Amino acid sequence: MQKVIFDTDPGVDDAMALLFLHRHPDIDLIGVTTVFGNASIEKTTRNAQFLHQAWGIAAPIAKGAARAFEPSRADDHPAAVVHGEDGLGNIGVPANIDSPVDPRPAFQFIIETVRANPGEVTLVAVGRMTNLALALKADPEIAGLVKEVVVMGGAFDVNGNVTPAAEANIYGDPEAADMVFTASWKVTIFGLDVTMKTLMSSSYLVEMTAGQDRALRLLSDLSQFYIDFYRQRVGLDGMAIHDSCACVYLAAPELFDYRSGPVRVICGGLADGKTIQSPDSGRRYEGSAWDGQPSQSVAVAVQPEKVLEVLRAT
Ligand code: BDR
Ligand code: CA
Repeated sequence: MQKVIFDTDPGVDDAMALLFLHRHPDIDLIGVTTVFGNASIEKTTRNAQFLHQAWGIAAPIAKGAARAFEPSRADDHPAAVVHGEDGLGNIGVPANIDSPVDPRPAFQFIIETVRANPGEVTLVAVGRMTNLALALKADPEIAGLVKEVVVMGGAFDVNGNVTPAAEANIYGDPEAADMVFTASWKVTIFGLDVTMKTLMSSSYLVEMTAGQDRALRLLSDLSQFYIDFYRQRVGLDGMAIHDSCACVYLAAPELFDYRSGPVRVICGGLADGKTIQSPDSGRRYEGSAWDGQPSQSVAVAVQPEKVLEVLRAT
């Protein structure tokens, strides 16, 4: 069983990924940490509580960062257009959910859980990486104690989805992402290069969620707003299941191809939030900001039908 802490900003595609982690027989979901992003931290934490209650998820929830690592950064990404005002497709999540939240802030929960399970915990981060950066800042040694960091974020050889340069999870906290990518731990990154190729059509969702399973009914209901966004604003019959790509990797890493090399994030200016990798197989840029940084893995190709099949089967 792989021990996983899911760092998330639910979020419609986050919700699908959460249900996958909960139901996969080889994955032991040992914690859920929330972060601002697709909605405010109050809403993303409440959404995590709501989904836990609805789906019978027992893993503790720890509330995370309300804003970016650098206090001067304002997060003005209009995610309500994508995920609805409530962050879950405007299905009418109750304002308050009566279920416990761990008293520790997310970064502290991460540190203590990693230290209690040295070498065993995989951090799957599918929102802004603020909680991970705060954990690294408070306790840099955890980098050597984490099994792997798996990230949904970035746009390497394709355009971004907030600006032509930047993808949302990185754009919302570029300094945090750069800290995570340059720390001495194993990071595997699923950016728009593969997630925008992994689309679930509305008919596939209907087929996957048909039947008496109430968890799947809820997943279908909360996905409708997101599907409409992709149809009306992006012009696609199908929704990008971004965060699920990072989770399916845990069960089926062979469904992606990877490129290794140091990754840096542009912080500031026109290309704010742009992720750039210096491939190990290419030219060495001696003396540059990439030189001497740890090599990380970036997913560069995907077998979308097979990823969908792993999701459906789970
Ligand atoms: C990422 O941004 C959020 O809208 C999604 O949940 C996903 O994590 C895609 O750019
Ligand atoms: Ca997300």
